[in-house]
Amino acid sequence: MRIGVDYYPEHWDKELWAKDAKLMAETGVSLVRLAEFAWCRLEPSDNCFDFAWLDEAIDIFMSNGIDIVLGTPTNCPPRWLQEKHPEIIPMGSDSRPQATGIRGHRCLNSPVFRSYAERIVRKLAEHYKDNKSVIAWQIDNELEAKLCFCEACNSKHRDRLKEMYGTIEALNEAYGTIVWSNEYSSFDQIKPPYGDYNKAWLNPAYMLDFRRLAAEDVTEFSDFQASVIRSVIPNATITTNTWFCEDIPDFYKLFNKLDFVSYDNYPTTSLPQNPDDIYTHAVHLDLMRGIKQQNFWIMEQLSGSMGCWMPMQKTTRPGMLKGYALQAFAHGADTVIHFRWRTATKGAEMHWHGLIDHSNVPGRRFIEFVELCKKAKEWEKYAGTELRSDVAVLYSIDSRNAFALQPQTDGFDYMEQIKLMHQAFAGYGVNVDIIDEHADFGSYKIICAPALYVTDDDTAKRLHEFADRGGTVILTARSGVKDRNNNCIMAHLPTVYADLTGCHVTEYDPIGYDTVEVRFEDGDTVTGKQWCDIIESDGAEVLARYVSDFYSGMPAVTRNRIKPVSVEAAEKPQPSSYVYYIGAFGERKLYEKIARMALEDSGLSFIPDLPRSVEITTRSGNGMTAHFVFNNTGEEKSFTLSGQKITLAPFECKGL
Ligand code: GLA
Repeated sequence: MRIGVDYYPEHWDKELWAKDAKLMAETGVSLVRLAEFAWCRLEPSDNCFDFAWLDEAIDIFMSNGIDIVLGTPTNCPPRWLQEKHPEIIPMGSDSRPQATGIRGHRCLNSPVFRSYAERIVRKLAEHYKDNKSVIAWQIDNELEAKLCFCEACNSKHRDRLKEMYGTIEALNEAYGTIVWSNEYSSFDQIKPPYGDYNKAWLNPAYMLDFRRLAAEDVTEFSDFQASVIRSVIPNATITTNTWFCEDIPDFYKLFNKLDFVSYDNYPTTSLPQNPDDIYTHAVHLDLMRGIKQQNFWIMEQLSGSMGCWMPMQKTTRPGMLKGYALQAFAHGADTVIHFRWRTATKGAEMHWHGLIDHSNVPGRRFIEFVELCKKAKEWEKYAGTELRSDVAVLYSIDSRNAFALQPQTDGFDYMEQIKLMHQAFAGYGVNVDIIDEHADFGSYKIICAPALYVTDDDTAKRLHEFADRGGTVILTARSGVKDRNNNCIMAHLPTVYADLTGCHVTEYDPIGYDTVEVRFEDGDTVTGKQWCDIIESDGAEVLARYVSDFYSGMPAVTRNRIKPVSVEAAEKPQPSSYVYYIGAFGERKLYEKIARMALEDSGLSFIPDLPRSVEITTRSGNGMTAHFVFNNTGEEKSFTLSGQKITLAPFECKGL
């Protein structure tokens, strides 16, 4: 396990650089990320470059045995560039240039911006191409799929829509523009969603496409920078740091041509009042690992109280700083880089805390960081191990965006469904991957696809084939609702999944904040919320029924036994293959119950009695198998695992 820090030499007096680097090296830091916002110092005026200061800083780190991740500074074009070419500033939906002086003030599609971006990235690559200490490149910073409304974007988006649909008639048909007399007669009439609009009033097919276009812009911009770097350094190792923002990029496309995923990991420092709340960051970590189905990095890791974008949050409780970093490793983050070495004394982020406070006197958190570095050294023995999972949860970018455009019922949140499903399996101590709905289902035994709302025949076919091969599938309400154009499919829900589930939905009830009681055949009851599909079985076994409201007695959860279909499969004895359909969203217990049944159906081993909020993962490879147990609470936890008594201090993570 490797530990690094994010460092901004341009923010500090030079005399601090050597002192900081020395302390880093003594502590066990072996990597720094530099320069991702430093364009105005790297190119102080048009075509005049100054890398001397960065060389000096890099030399200091190198002489302390510290490697470098170099950020391309394109997030923050300097003032001279903004003044010379105001057209590079992104345009808001109010047709006004968006506020500058913060960051991210550049239009990714502006040809002028592209040429300046290409030049600074090329210069940096040429300057550092032979420096062996520069081990990786970070493109830009936290690229977000925000729409820009400038003419360069508008015309690019129109061209792209033309490419996608061919004719305006085909686009009209796909969008259903006949509704409310919205038909276009030419592509030139297509405009982005201007104004202070209420998204829900706009055409859903058109809106989903504009989200896709914004995400494509991000991927294309990142690929463009990667190709510039690679044209100079063919074997450069390249990433970009991502996170969960409102305008999320399409993670799967974004990282497709990059070498590895890196994630900015800021778990909460406030523990939930209700122990049933899911607050673990494990779900995000497993999603990040699932993007490329390989180990990843943390490019920014929580180091103290977060603030400045919001009032300051609680500081990291004792054990948290170290524990959260080790938790990330336990989920596949081989490198964890802390944001940041020292809390900024100037600028907007002066209240987002680093490892060392404003005083520059290392305190409690730093002492914990020193312990983390020691542990990381010890954990170098796990190099080459990775997580292998039998269980996968599908994540659909299209569904996520479509739900954001048209909220389904009060309280419903797509990510919560992903978390609940993930947590249900993770709570039994099994590794869980969260993967793209388009990923290869190859080696998994169980696939959960909560609320697969926007879908198509291809995904349905692949899930069908997966079940035919003996895999267990879990589907829920709001699956199969929309086609890829974000239009409703004219068939009984779950439409393209009805064959697979062996049931159909006769009617549904979006109950929002109300609740219903759902009783299983074994007498267990759970609380359903937000949504109730009233189901009719077409052969599936009924596992649970509603016991309240006008649909009392109707099926709420079903399980369909899949018989082998291919001749080859029929000749071999097949493992059980089941498809679950959960018609109501509900409390945690509902998902845990189904997860347990699915694990039993699939013959997978699991830990039935792991204490709540104790997490366990398994990394294997390089001739070893190691288990990691993590206590994600502020209290000591004791339990027995395979006859071994384990005690974990608050937030402690142990390798077994
Ligand atoms: C993000 C950014 C950083 C910094 C932190 C803290 O993760 O990438 O530059 O702004 O948030 O706010």
